[in-house]
Amino acid sequence: MNKHLRENTELWDSAVDGLGAAPKWLASKWFYDKTGSELFEQITELPEYYPTRTELSILRGATATLAAHMPDDTALVELGSGASVKTKILLDAIPQITTYTPLDISEAFLAETAKGLQTDYPDLQISPVACDFMSDVSFPDALKGRAKVGFFPGSTLGNLNPRNAIDLLQRARNWPDVRSFVLGIDLVKETDRLLRAYDDVQGVTAAFNMNLLARLNSELGADFDLDAFAHEARWNAEDARIEMHLVSQAGQTVTLGQHSFDFASGESIHTENSHKYTPDSIGAIIGKAGWHMAEFLTDDADDFAVCLLTPQ
Ligand code: TRP
Repeated sequence: MNKHLRENTELWDSAVDGLGAAPKWLASKWFYDKTGSELFEQITELPEYYPTRTELSILRGATATLAAHMPDDTALVELGSGASVKTKILLDAIPQITTYTPLDISEAFLAETAKGLQTDYPDLQISPVACDFMSDVSFPDALKGRAKVGFFPGSTLGNLNPRNAIDLLQRARNWPDVRSFVLGIDLVKETDRLLRAYDDVQGVTAAFNMNLLARLNSELGADFDLDAFAHEARWNAEDARIEMHLVSQAGQTVTLGQHSFDFASGESIHTENSHKYTPDSIGAIIGKAGWHMAEFLTDDADDFAVCLLTPQ
């Protein structure tokens, strides 16, 4: 067996699983290697990708409202550790936050985040936890008895199906001493604008999506012809979500080690979902998870919302 194959068993198993299924899919967590993370940073600055800048402006204008739900000596627990621009808005404006606890699967990422923040915030206690935030989190002893406030920006909740979204929020509801939860979500709007946000003219999102196939080639020795697949964003009205697909432009067979996968012309690999919410649909999800919507903060165009949740 070739060296790539053994080195990346998890990616391998996931690819064999997804490409062998009907319909075909690839797990979105594989988007974020070094290239993918850099491309994602570029996505957040695209003219068509309104969520990041809209959420930033809502957060900047809402710090006093959010601060009202954070007691003294709060530990801010962020799900994921990438978005330090957003984190800094809260740290700069809310003195009750004395500890920052990013949760991330990658120890290396956590170490980088901690190092970066500690320089700018020398007095901040940083207690990262390496974990999958979809599972139960075990907090370090340093956080025993400390008030906790969750932070989950970027409409990352929307990348989960509703069942998993409820499950994640329910787990957070059960954190010891949790006081509130700051949740950023993207809202349903005109389909054209949604589609453009996930299919920009510069092709950055297309490159981000195609990077999955590039990884299967370089890391697993697959033989995807990248020119024979095209990026596509689709609006699924029934499930209120944007879907990412990689669509085969011809009938073709792709091989991955001893496996081969046949593609019909027009057949797609489903790579991601991004659910869009209405006040009612997000209200139902947070209610089922045991939270109360204490604040629903939007921009003037109602493009995006920052929700402040408190325990029911
Ligand atoms: N949470 C982001 C979103 O759903 C992630 C994202 C943005 C994304 N652009 C993407 C995921 C393109 C896959 C493809 O908006």
